[in-house]
Amino acid sequence: MKHLIDPMDLSKVEIDEILALAQDIIGNREKYQDVMAHKKLATLFYEPSTRTRLSFTSAMMELGGNVLGFADARSSSVSKGETVQDTVRVVGCFADVIAMRHHIEGAQLYASEVSKVPIINAGDGSHSHPTQTLTDLLTITRELGHIDGITIGFCGDLKFGRTVHSLIKALSRYKDVKVVLIAPDELKLPDYIKQDVCDRLGISYKEVKTMEEVMPELDVLYMTRVQQERFLDMDEFDRVKDSFVLDSKKMSLAKDKMAVLHPLPRVNEILTEVDADPRAAYFRQVENGKFVRMALIYKLLEWKDKAGGTASQCIEAASEPSLSGLRCTNPKCICNNENAPARFVRTSGGTLRCYYCDSKIK
Ligand code: CP
Repeated sequence: MKHLIDPMDLSKVEIDEILALAQDIIGNREKYQDVMAHKKLATLFYEPSTRTRLSFTSAMMELGGNVLGFADARSSSVSKGETVQDTVRVVGCFADVIAMRHHIEGAQLYASEVSKVPIINAGDGSHSHPTQTLTDLLTITRELGHIDGITIGFCGDLKFGRTVHSLIKALSRYKDVKVVLIAPDELKLPDYIKQDVCDRLGISYKEVKTMEEVMPELDVLYMTRVQQERFLDMDEFDRVKDSFVLDSKKMSLAKDKMAVLHPLPRVNEILTEVDADPRAAYFRQVENGKFVRMALIYKLLEWKDKAGGTASQCIEAASEPSLSGLRCTNPKCICNNENAPARFVRTSGGTLRCYYCDSKIK
């Protein structure tokens, strides 16, 4: 069964197929208007969303299919204690494909282990957001004409920003991409992305203190919101919330063809005066999200019987005496919220990480 849990679940060929199909859908809307007739998508959202949930809904409707699900888990039997695994077992009786957002990291991976229909990760905590990544890749392609060779600046909350983590992973599939990281010390990119993605897969990156010093180099500026909902310490949030703000003055330093992306929602990090700049691509990016999700639904159902996922790399703690008693310590991991087993992945550098949330096992 092919699920989309992590951006690395898709090969470069598969990403190219999805992006090409999305472009074909954009140019030939009528050709696709009935291709999902009699098929159903379930959207299970345990965390708030505007773009992701509604674009999945709109995508399935534009393909001629139907949509069911919940936008607030409190209105479902989750409020009675039903687990994610039981929920997808049940929903798989009603739908052909499931898009799930969850505040618990690794919830979709754990759910996919028992699902009889493809699961799409629509965002798990601060961890991954692979369909935003496909949206971003389509947007960069449409704005610049290519992804190979770009210099992309990620600015803002790189610690909790799941869209950043996922896009950097996917960019490792492309040639000669340079990454510039612009974040306050408190919100720097997690080590596992720097070490296991950038260093291991050969993405060159540098960390800088100001936007101004790198604006002229960038082909893409990827702005992000500082995510108040992920902070445990509100004083720390207040200290960093307005660290980086994009305005017209900073835009004047950028290339004429630079594209500004933002997964949205924004708060203060892009002033509305930037919206009229032709390089502001973030609302075009939203619409690309619908087209790429149309392509993804189509492809996942076409690939339903194809093998996929990362299970082959997983080490069962129970099967190795040296790992006995080790647990993931991330309180937001599925291991510590439902009865998921202790499972690990050993990176090529020898680091042991949680299979579900990528946290380092100490
Ligand atoms: N970009 C994104 O995931 O937006 P929503 O949280 O509104 O779905």
